[in-house]
Formats: sequence, C-alpha cells, structure tokens
Amino acid sequence: MKIILGPASTALAERIAELTGYEKVPVIYKTFPDGENYIRLEGTVKDDNVAIVQTSSVPQDSHLMQLAFMAAAAKNNKARKVTAVVPYLAYARQDKVFLPGENVSIETIAHMLKAAGVDALITVNIHAESALNKFSFPAKNLSAIALLAEYFVQKDCRKAFALAPDKGAMYIAQQAQSVLQGEAGNLEKQRDRYTGQTSQTDKGLNVKGQTVIIFDDIISTGGTIVGAAKILRQLGATRIYTACVHGLLIGDAEKRILNAGVKEIVGTDSVPSHISKVSIAPLIAKALKALKSG
Ligand code: R5P
Repeated sequence: MKIILGPASTALAERIAELTGYEKVPVIYKTFPDGENYIRLEGTVKDDNVAIVQTSSVPQDSHLMQLAFMAAAAKNNKARKVTAVVPYLAYARQDKVFLPGENVSIETIAHMLKAAGVDALITVNIHAESALNKFSFPAKNLSAIALLAEYFVQKDCRKAFALAPDKGAMYIAQQAQSVLQGEAGNLEKQRDRYTGQTSQTDKGLNVKGQTVIIFDDIISTGGTIVGAAKILRQLGATRIYTACVHGLLIGDAEKRILNAGVKEIVGTDSVPSHISKVSIAPLIAKALKALKSG
C-alpha cells in the first residue's frame, strides 16, 4: 500500500506513513487565481493499493474537490484500489431531510467520491454512524475518544466526569468513561431547524465539586460547549475541560469557550491546529494495516 499525502492532512499522512512503513506519494497542488484547484501525484501508483489521507475541514468544498481529483488521478494512473482516509467528513451532519426541500448532502458527497474512483472510505467519529449507509462502497468509522480520554488520564484527570453536551454524544461520553473510570452523563440539546439556534438543559446531573470533561465529536462555533459550561458552573463543577475529535473552531469559538470558564480545549490532528494535542495517526495506521491483512 502507498500513502498519498493529501494537501489538507500532510503532517497526519506523514505520521501514518511512518507508523505503517508504507511508501509516501507526495502531491503537488495549487489554487488558480480564480479559485480552481490543481493536483498532481508525484509518484507512481500503478497496480498499488493507495490510501489518500485528506481531511475535509474548512475550506470543505475545496478539500473535497482535491480529494476527488486525487482519487481520479490515482485511478487514471492505474492504482488498483483507492481508500479515502477522511478523518473529518464534511457534510455528514446533513444525513437526512430535516425540512421539506432539503438535500441529503452526505449522500451527494458519497456519490461524488464513488464517481471519482474511491473504492473504500475510512473516517473518524462521523457525526452519526447511520450516514455510512449512504455510501455504496465499504465505509468504516473509527473512534478517537479513547485517545482523547487517555490524554486526560495523563493530565491527572482520572475519575473525571465525562459529559456529553447532547444525547447523541452520549456514546462518546461512555467511551471516555471507560478510560477515565469516573461517571458519565449528558445534557439535552434542542435545535430550531429554521434558525439553527440551540439551547441546552440539565436533567439532573450531579457534578458538584467534580472535574468535568465535555466530550463532543465537533466543536464548530463553540456554542454547544459554551452552553454546557454555563450549566456546569451553575451546578458547581470545579474544573471544566473540553475535548473534541474535530476542532473546527470557527470565528472566536476558542475565546468564547475559554471565557466560559473552560480550562483547556483539546482536539486531534483530524483538523490540524494548535489545539491538536492528540494524534489519530496510530488509530488510522492500525486500520490500514488491518485492511491490508484482511
Ligand atoms: C452536533 O450535534 C455536534 O455533535 C456538535 O455538538 C456541534 O456540531 C457543535 O457545534 P457548535 O460548536 O457550533 O455548537
């Protein structure tokens, strides 16, 4: 297998190549003055299985286009099998029609990737696993939550309370709990489908005097974490941290979260930034190895 170093995830791809020992295929890329993308694989892929590592964080559309171009280039150059490793899968949150007239965006992305030549997908903590059913080729979801929880164990936060900011993230809190060995619980989140406004409520959490870590798949505007932190402070939590797999941190999200009393924001290199304190490279390397031997 060869690892294609997607422009959105070069450092992560390098680490995966290091851990697996697989050969790297660098990518030459540029953006034309009008905004169009250009890519060129700088290496041979003939008769090879390839894994393209390319996250689809901001700018999502551009990163997805680059991914499609790399897949097509791999197939045009006679790669045998193309696996797209897309840690943050954009558009996964629109996985159903919520309001009449909408599109199931993730299904369109799935069609697009298939048409470009992708044969299999590996992603990490997709918003809802059911979205994988929209893919007509094998699509696997990995979880980085244990790695994030391990970071907090190293920080002396064993036994911390793992909080999910909404019911959908409770499975995340439970995965964290099995590493932290403390308690877990969730808030309730309501969303207005027209305005996008959310509000959260507590249904009887007992976090008084506790260290609480809010775990989520994505931090985007930070509104969810800010809302959760406010409730935790009211409930008497002593220390509040937050961890996410995909730290998009749009606008002043980071500032708002820290101002809300959160001591630290921890993310992974699914979305590379200064909060990427945990690497998902070992997780992906293991999955690629399993793919090869499977
Ligand atoms: C949605 O339910 C996700 O799990 C996250 O909670 C959400 O995307 C976070 O968005 P924001 O940071 O804008 O509140």
